[in-house]
Amino acid sequence: MSFPTIRARRTRQSDVWRRMVRETRLSPDALIYPLFVVPGEGVRHPVSSMPGIAQLSVDEAVKEAKAAAESGVPAVLVFAAPEHKDARASAALDPHGLAARAITAIKSACPRLSVWADVCLCGATDHGHCGHVLPDGAIDNDASIQTLAQVALNYARAGADAVAPSDMMDGRVQAIRRVLDRDGYSMTPIVSYAAKYASSFYGPFREAAESAPAFGDRRSYQMDPANAREALREVLLDVEEGADLVMVKPAGPYLDIIRQVRDAVRVPVVAYQVSGEYSLIKAAAERGWIDERAAVLETLTGIQRAGADLIITYFAPEVARGLRA
Ligand code: PBG
Repeated sequence: MSFPTIRARRTRQSDVWRRMVRETRLSPDALIYPLFVVPGEGVRHPVSSMPGIAQLSVDEAVKEAKAAAESGVPAVLVFAAPEHKDARASAALDPHGLAARAITAIKSACPRLSVWADVCLCGATDHGHCGHVLPDGAIDNDASIQTLAQVALNYARAGADAVAPSDMMDGRVQAIRRVLDRDGYSMTPIVSYAAKYASSFYGPFREAAESAPAFGDRRSYQMDPANAREALREVLLDVEEGADLVMVKPAGPYLDIIRQVRDAVRVPVVAYQVSGEYSLIKAAAERGWIDERAAVLETLTGIQRAGADLIITYFAPEVARGLRA
């Protein structure tokens, strides 16, 4: 049987039909909101390349987290840009460092909000790389994962509900799991940035997190955008090492990866709609070239349809408010 007996438009002809046969439904429950914390007090420093997003001092980050929680967003992801940067990433290891203080403050102000901590060295190192750097400029993978595990422990002690390593070093999930388990944090989940690509879409974030590498690039640890099989390998390795959730990042240009990962693992899959994806929509909307609200919902629906269970997005509170209205 075919046309004219079959007409696909029948179940598309009215809003009530479209509502009933919709396959993908966005919910605030799936959204995670990133926060950029900087030193000081009363600081709300707009990130010029990300309209609507600001670097926040701890007190302001608490306000922003409260507003996000009120909008219905269940979780925030904390990034810190400490003033002091050195080769050892001391600020990230310091129990009174910026990230640790932000986590504790947000957690005590919003006990029911899930506070995730990004675990990386790039925001706290003077060279801006995600791991330790050897004299010849190469990355010292095995020393880096020991430091990353201590950073994760520091954030777990500060009260983080999950630690999210974004460095892309080999073996870091296992190293973090061991240290957390040994020190009494066996119930702290690891959200692994498992398939993280060396992407041009991180540009605006590096302004917000003050984490651009001082030399070279991240291609010896982040993935080649051309590779899909390698993403599955990375994801399966991280699951084996003990990742509780796995992430694909960026999201929009990697929908095929999200789908393949969703089909390959049983843990929840997180997709990160990164800074550049946010800024593209904002820039086009500012010029009146695109309907922002519609474009945002379309991108998030596409990411969910591709297989993401959770989505990290700078649009989170706005979208959550819109979905509840
Ligand atoms: C740091 C980190 C980056 C992002 C999250 N964690 C940047 C990078 O790897 O250079 C990107 C987030 C975004 O662009 O929104 N390791």
